Amino acid sequence: MTYSYRMLVADDQPAYRALRLLGLRLYPENFLSSLEEEQDKPSDEDRETLSQGLSRGLFDQNRTLIGMSSFVPETAQRAAHRAYIGGFNVHPDAQGKGAAQALMRNLVAEARDRGVWQLELYVNEANARARRFYEKHGFRVAGTLPNSIIADAGPETDLFMVCDLRDSS
Ligand SMILES: CC(C)(COP(=O)(O)OP(=O)(O)OC[C@H]1O[C@@H](n2cnc3c(N)ncnc32)[C@H](O)[C@@H]1OP(=O)(O)O)[C@@H](O)C(=O)NCCC(=O)NCCS
Repeated sequence: MTYSYRMLVADDQPAYRALRLLGLRLYPENFLSSLEEEQDKPSDEDRETLSQGLSRGLFDQNRTLIGMSSFVPETAQRAAHRAYIGGFNVHPDAQGKGAAQALMRNLVAEARDRGVWQLELYVNEANARARRFYEKHGFRVAGTLPNSIIADAGPETDLFMVCDLRDSS
């Protein structure tokens, strides 16, 4: 499968929103926001978010958005080697087929191009699939965030994971 990767822009809003809401519906514990609060958001808010240039998308050969993530480099000079990855989400039909890997590889390539060598993210401790995926891509647990969200069943714990890109070429 050939994928393409690019920054998402305001005009991607409908596809961005559809994939985001699907992720929130299927995996409510895996993201900070709830489906209820996101589905009530006016589309202009999404367009504003996308206009900031901090969202990245992966498209299949039909130019359908099948994966996305935020990519947020630190702006302070002394922290410019760091970037945060958030809302990493691949369409269920594209999971287990290399799309997530393609998205991560593109994020890593972009990070390297920008001189970023430390990637950081939070993942729900109970999200075994995502943890395994991140570990495969060089992320290591660097800390724990208790009470990251208060889900229906009670408080959840997040792991803070870090990938040092200098460890691999
Ligand atoms: C997390 C996600 C991006 C990973 O993408 P993916 O295509 O499923 O990832 P891969 O199939 O390449 O890798 C997943 C790994 O976890 C393993 N795995 C699958 N289900 C698992 C489970 N229940 N427990 C442990 N490991 C599991 C797979 O076998 C695979 O490992 P392997 O390559 O050693 O066999 C994707 O599943 C997703 O978008 N999930 C929903 C949203 C989400 O949770 N995002 C993360 C927010 S932090």
